Amino acid sequence: MKLAPTVKLNNGYEMPILGLGTYNSKDNEGEAAVKHAIDVGYRHIDTAYFYQNEAEVGKAIRDKIAEGVVKREDIFLVTKLWNIFHDPERVEGICRKQLSNFGLDYIDLYLMHMPVGYKYVDDNTLLPKNEDDVLQLSDVDYLDTYKAMEKLVKLGLVRSIGVSNFNSEQLARVLANCEIKPVTNQVECSPALNQKALTAFCKKNDVTLTGYTPLGKPKPDIQKPDFIYSPEVAVIAKKYGKTTPQIVLRYLVGLGVIPIPKSSNTNRISENFDIFDFELTAEEMAVLDGYHTGERVVPLNLIKGLNHKYYPFSIEF
Ligand SMILES: NC(=O)c1ccc[n+]([C@@H]2O[C@H](COP(=O)([O-])OP(=O)(O)OC[C@H]3O[C@@H](n4cnc5c(N)ncnc54)[C@H](OP(=O)(O)O)[C@@H]3O)[C@@H](O)[C@H]2O)c1
Repeated sequence: MKLAPTVKLNNGYEMPILGLGTYNSKDNEGEAAVKHAIDVGYRHIDTAYFYQNEAEVGKAIRDKIAEGVVKREDIFLVTKLWNIFHDPERVEGICRKQLSNFGLDYIDLYLMHMPVGYKYVDDNTLLPKNEDDVLQLSDVDYLDTYKAMEKLVKLGLVRSIGVSNFNSEQLARVLANCEIKPVTNQVECSPALNQKALTAFCKKNDVTLTGYTPLGKPKPDIQKPDFIYSPEVAVIAKKYGKTTPQIVLRYLVGLGVIPIPKSSNTNRISENFDIFDFELTAEEMAVLDGYHTGERVVPLNLIKGLNHKYYPFSIEF
């Protein structure tokens, strides 16, 4: 079976350069998606405490190990520390709970989901709100949270740590103060938000950039985003016998980004993985560059208007 190429991380571990996103893949659907993905060659699976599907993802992985399809070390499992657990005192406990959700004894990559913490009420109140329905944030410094995540590496609970939704200044602050470097910054990245500046910054610091929402969450009813429904991209797709989502994913890989498209449809899971037998020309890459608008599908609207000092998207990158 053909697997995705891997990239060597700054700590020596290898990470497959294409992963399966699992947001909204829950219950049987989530389990089936991960199983099918492993069957067709995915080895990198992205989930999060917030997605409430760690048990299903873990079961799928454990079943595939039991079937002899993969060994644990073949899988690169990524999950995230949710925002309500930023208090350093909570980090180890919730990480252990996540391991028990998976039924596994280590996580490959543990990301801080966002630089902004939320108020802790209990483990299940993921979006704590006040009587006026306003999200309650916390002022924990993400550096303190990060230092607690470093301990998880030392304890052997996680192999690598990283961040998500961090801007370049926040990432620089982590890099300047950490003992264990983050291996990736997971941020939104698609032709509409190609993250060239942040990717260059990450590269200079030996940090990879993982691209979420790489397909811009296609909406066939309104034919958005443009890059998926573009006749121009369709011409390129036709040349290679591919689909426009495949061209988009190949473009992102060409930019040095690690895309994690989500699908729970078996055909589309297979389709999104089938991008390693062709390459785009410089001219074709330039066509895709033309769709950059800088607009986000995921601007973190819940916290955007709350003036938190760590809201990440107020600077250029
Ligand atoms: N760190 C963060 O804050 C953060 C934020 C957002 C997302 N993420 C991660 O990134 C992953 C991907 O992002 P996303 O789920 O927001 O968006 P996405 O991957 O751009 O789009 C997912 C949507 O596209 C559809 N789709 C998938 N492949 C397709 C194809 N080949 N043709 C047409 N439609 C296709 C899926 O439907 P079907 O399932 O029906 O195929 C789903 O509705 C998430 O699942 C999650 O793991 C992380």
